[in-house]
Amino acid sequence: MPAKVVVVGSLNMDLVTRAERLPRAGETLVGQSFATVSGGKGANQAVAAARLGAQVSMVGCVGDDAYGEQLRSALLAEQIDCQAVTTVSGSSGVALIVVDDSSQNAIVIVAGGNGQLTPEVVSGFDQVLQAADVIICQLEVPLPTVGHVLKRGRALGKTVILNPAPASGPLPADWYASIDYLIPNESEAAALSGLPVDSLASAEAAAGHLVAAGAGKVIITLGPQGSLFADGTRFEHFPAPKVKAVDTTAAGDTFVGGFAAALAAGKNEAEAIRFGQVAAALSVTRPGAQPSIPTLSDVQAFSPA
Ligand code: RIB
Repeated sequence: MPAKVVVVGSLNMDLVTRAERLPRAGETLVGQSFATVSGGKGANQAVAAARLGAQVSMVGCVGDDAYGEQLRSALLAEQIDCQAVTTVSGSSGVALIVVDDSSQNAIVIVAGGNGQLTPEVVSGFDQVLQAADVIICQLEVPLPTVGHVLKRGRALGKTVILNPAPASGPLPADWYASIDYLIPNESEAAALSGLPVDSLASAEAAAGHLVAAGAGKVIITLGPQGSLFADGTRFEHFPAPKVKAVDTTAAGDTFVGGFAAALAAGKNEAEAIRFGQVAAALSVTRPGAQPSIPTLSDVQAFSPA
């Protein structure tokens, strides 16, 4: 029986344009392409965990619009259990994404149905949390809901992962004791710690700060530089496989979902980090959020250049 990963978080329809570069304030650019793609950090992490070997349940909300149906169908197509994906009145979450020729992106999200994932809604699906081995949250749903899930996950004795994305400032101090693995990227680590993160040394300082705040273990993802692990006794840098990036959207989500799936399957932390990094590296070689996420056999077949 595959181990069970439960993702509590967002589902967004991504409205993706490609352009030579990101527009400046007040500027109109002529783009190269447009696509609607299933995304949302929560749903992307659920798809990653499912494609990479875990049995997955999603807890979230979609609107009663066409996007809501498409977002649910995309998860069902991956054999993800959607009994806890509630349809609410109004629009689904959307993300407006511009990807430039250097594969970087800029994203604006509008919460839509994600904003209606309250602690009460999640409490109605407590049996889904109870069945989990690993629980993952992000920050695209209301913060009281994230706080509820972290604490409930800890009370149930589950492995709890928080991907604090997007982050605009410090986390509530009383969350830290419920987090086994805190997985920010560089800018999120800076927002959480109040320290600049622009080098391995500064990432170590920020990770040390977050462990001291009470997070069990911290993994700062560093894009093409890999990731930094910290647990209060040591730091370890994991270099990333080298690939040619075309679109970095959902790379962090693929890492988180892959790390969780590997951990749930019994791999140790170092193995799970390397596995997540290969999955994330493969994802940046393909466009889009969920369409870019590799399968277990893609990862197993990967050999570094
Ligand atoms: O992490 C990538 C995701 O961020 C996109 O799919 C978009 O929906 C935003 O939530």
